[in-house]
Amino acid sequence: MNTTIIDGKSTAERVRNELRTAIEDLKQAGHTPGLAVVLVGEDPASRVYVNSKVKACEELGIYSQKWALPAQTSQEELLRLIDQLNRDERIHGILVQSPPPPHIDEAAVVLSIDPRKDVDGFHPVNVAKLVLEDSSGFVPCTPLGCMELLKQYGVSTQGKHAVIIGRSMIVGKPMAHLLMSKAANATVTIAHSRTHDLAGLCRTADILVAAVGRPGLVTAPFIKPGAVVLDVGINRVEDASRPRGYRIVGDVEFDSVAPLCSAITPVPGGVGPMTIAMLMANTVKACRQITARG
Ligand code: GUN
Repeated sequence: MNTTIIDGKSTAERVRNELRTAIEDLKQAGHTPGLAVVLVGEDPASRVYVNSKVKACEELGIYSQKWALPAQTSQEELLRLIDQLNRDERIHGILVQSPPPPHIDEAAVVLSIDPRKDVDGFHPVNVAKLVLEDSSGFVPCTPLGCMELLKQYGVSTQGKHAVIIGRSMIVGKPMAHLLMSKAANATVTIAHSRTHDLAGLCRTADILVAAVGRPGLVTAPFIKPGAVVLDVGINRVEDASRPRGYRIVGDVEFDSVAPLCSAITPVPGGVGPMTIAMLMANTVKACRQITARG
């Protein structure tokens, strides 16, 4: 099989280049898009993600605020900060990095964010808008990035069978809605930890999305020859040969799976870079929508 390796890095760069024009237009009209990124606690992976998000803003000329709060920050303090950001006219997007420390009620935090500034697409108003196919809502960045990759690589979803492994609110569920939408018209199956004969089910997929966080779960017997495989997993596995002592792998065993596919995303360099690019796109969209309403 002649396998296309889907390049998330260059596709993300293409998305960013399109955003540069949109941001310039907004600035000409007197509006600078602004994003607030909030991190509670010291989780090292979360800190890396948050810094990457702020850096992406700087590179595009998006105004950003980074709030790194100590792990013992109370729920009340966090809600007060969100209230302040909801009212800050320089800020069009608010993101609280997940997962927060265990004493924080994440659902209450998400509910406190103004849905018009919820660039993560986690607020129930935006979840409903996704289900209703109301394009004014915000869609979570990772599934949005997956759809953009399919589009940029000319992968038709029309009438195809898409199997998604994983039912999270961040990836699996929104991805299912995007793929079954009237724009994409795929037939969607969501698999999860209780699914019987996972490999057999996945082998019926024209498009397979792996989003469970289990390194190397998807192996050759899961693949229908010619399938398109999107690997959303970002897993740290110990590797003494690396200076950091670990390496990043996906949910797909790339070396055995890739030769069977018509196209596949690698890890790293596939879906990952798209997530931040789509966050930037959502921030620009929020700015446009908020400022148009005055
Ligand atoms: N943690 C992992 N992915 C995400 C994301 O897309 N948004 C937020 N807020 N936290 C995350």
